[in-house]
Amino acid sequence: MKDRQKFWEERYAGKDYLFGTEPNDFLVTQTDRLIPGARVLAVADGEGRNGVWLAEQGLNVLSVDLSNNALAKARALAADRGVSIQTLQADLINWNWPVAAFDLVVTFFIHSDSREQQILLNAMYQALKPDGVLIFEAYGKAHADNEFGGPDDPDRLYSSALLRQSLDRAEILLLQEKTVIRRGGRFPGKPAAVVRLVARRPQRQ
Ligand SMILES: C[S@@+](CC[C@H](N)C(=O)[O-])C[C@H]1O[C@@H](n2cnc3c(N)ncnc32)[C@H](O)[C@@H]1O
Repeated sequence: MKDRQKFWEERYAGKDYLFGTEPNDFLVTQTDRLIPGARVLAVADGEGRNGVWLAEQGLNVLSVDLSNNALAKARALAADRGVSIQTLQADLINWNWPVAAFDLVVTFFIHSDSREQQILLNAMYQALKPDGVLIFEAYGKAHADNEFGGPDDPDRLYSSALLRQSLDRAEILLLQEKTVIRRGGRFPGKPAAVVRLVARRPQRQ
């Protein structure tokens, strides 16, 4: 098992849901974009709080993550909520990504170095069908030195410039860097400096 996977398997080894079982706040603001029956890829979905919520909205979810422990919890959460999701363990940096296969790709707080960020963003974009939409949120550069969560290495934080550059063929529908107060997760009530993006793959590409 590679170090990266070992790190996450250990973090998810306990019974509790590390990041809670409620969906990401930003995702919930995007409800208008969720079409029942749409095929969605939940990238680095962890314990499934977002993938399971999307399944509850009637979407057809494939939830991919590095950690088997997390995905087992995601399946348990789905069963508890009376929905089903497909799960797949993979390292998304080396994954054989499907192309033009999903109506929606969502990802929340996957942090790699800037080289891998570009690989991931490009792969997520390619995974979209024409007209498909990517919804993304992660810690931004302004989160450096924040004691409440996020990576220690500033190269693992995102900038809107990198998103724009990596998604230069996309139609950017929303791109913002802002500080939000978290409702749930590990640090409720604490600030997080995030980058949020909604982008569409145009019809002709
Ligand atoms: C901070 S957690 C966020 C989990 C989930 N998206 C959420 O918001 O609750 C980061 C997740 O990214 C996953 N991850 C990190 N690197 C990965 C990689 N290379 N391939 C697949 N998953 C990865 C971890 O296993 C972990 O579940």
